[in-house]
Amino acid sequence: MDITILGIESSCDDTSAAVLRNEVLLSNVMAGQEVHSKYGGVIPELASRAHQQNILPVVDRALKLAEITLKDIDAIAFTRGPGLLGSLLVGTSFAKGLSLSTGKPLVDVNHLQGHLLSPFIKEQGKEKEQPGFPFLSLLVSGGHTQIILVEEPLKFSIIGQTIDDAVGEAFDKCAKVLGLGYPGGPVVDRHAKLGNAKAFKFSKPHVAGLDYSFSGVKTSLLYFLRDKMEENPDFITQNIDDLCASFQSTLIDILMDKLILAVKKTGIREVALGGGVSANSGLRERVVSEGEKRGFKVFLPEFRFTTDNAAMIAMAGYFHFKTGRVSDLSAVPVSRALDYKGGL
Ligand code: KG4
Ligand code: ZN
Repeated sequence: MDITILGIESSCDDTSAAVLRNEVLLSNVMAGQEVHSKYGGVIPELASRAHQQNILPVVDRALKLAEITLKDIDAIAFTRGPGLLGSLLVGTSFAKGLSLSTGKPLVDVNHLQGHLLSPFIKEQGKEKEQPGFPFLSLLVSGGHTQIILVEEPLKFSIIGQTIDDAVGEAFDKCAKVLGLGYPGGPVVDRHAKLGNAKAFKFSKPHVAGLDYSFSGVKTSLLYFLRDKMEENPDFITQNIDDLCASFQSTLIDILMDKLILAVKKTGIREVALGGGVSANSGLRERVVSEGEKRGFKVFLPEFRFTTDNAAMIAMAGYFHFKTGRVSDLSAVPVSRALDYKGGL
């Protein structure tokens, strides 16, 4: 029997809706929010307002592109958390309203689980190899930096994570101090391609086990720039490519050291990437080359599934629905990963 899932994602600053039929994506519509760029970061109140404006047209378009109507769906999967509470409320309330009016069941989805399961999204007419279980997932975004051991589609454990900032925040803060705007990751990536990664050195953290830390390296960049700017006020503009390349390479080194350790510790030789930072060209190249060198297989996400999207929420919703796990109208959003009890 076919299973058709409508997915809704609104955890941060992207409003997205997708339709998935038996692991195959029929549509995935995204509406980003330009409004935050002039503030240099996501403003929660503006994000929830933009979600309210976007959600209806986005869902409507996802259904139209999939050439289905609400009658054809089996369940409505929505991101329950973690994320910004006001943003999550918009998607959750919309999903509940839709469920009430159509009688279709609701499936609440943990946003992180969506990222983890994104390698399983199939696209029409495209062959793609999928990781086998168990595999390791390096989840790197603006809110998360985690190494996750995925045993089954719905069974996973976090075996390493950042004790302070996420790596995406480090990219964004680097871009901010260099005057490159927000979000910083893509623009740092672009400059890094033109620069020398060995031009400057930034200190790396010493954190035990598989955990990460990114606040020190950010401070190291700040102090370095302060000293250099005292000598030469044009230091940043004259060295922008080398600065981006060197800082990006330090972040990638930090990510890779622990990922390689996780491969050694667990003996698992399949590694998937997910989250906004997995769009980074330097990181993608390094994971692939380290995999070739050390004998682990790498699964890189399609670019459009790296950042937040509803296709991955529909994918996770599909796995839940298949096992008979649905939620009800009492489901409320949760902002922190730790508070998330459902769907794990
Ligand atoms: O997964 P995502 O869209 O949202 C969160 O859940 O946070 O990730 C957004 C993060 C931002 O920090 C952004 O700067 C970063 O992903 N990012 C990148 C690149 N594209 C997006 N970081 C480095 N290189 C990129 N090409
Ligand atoms: Zn995300």
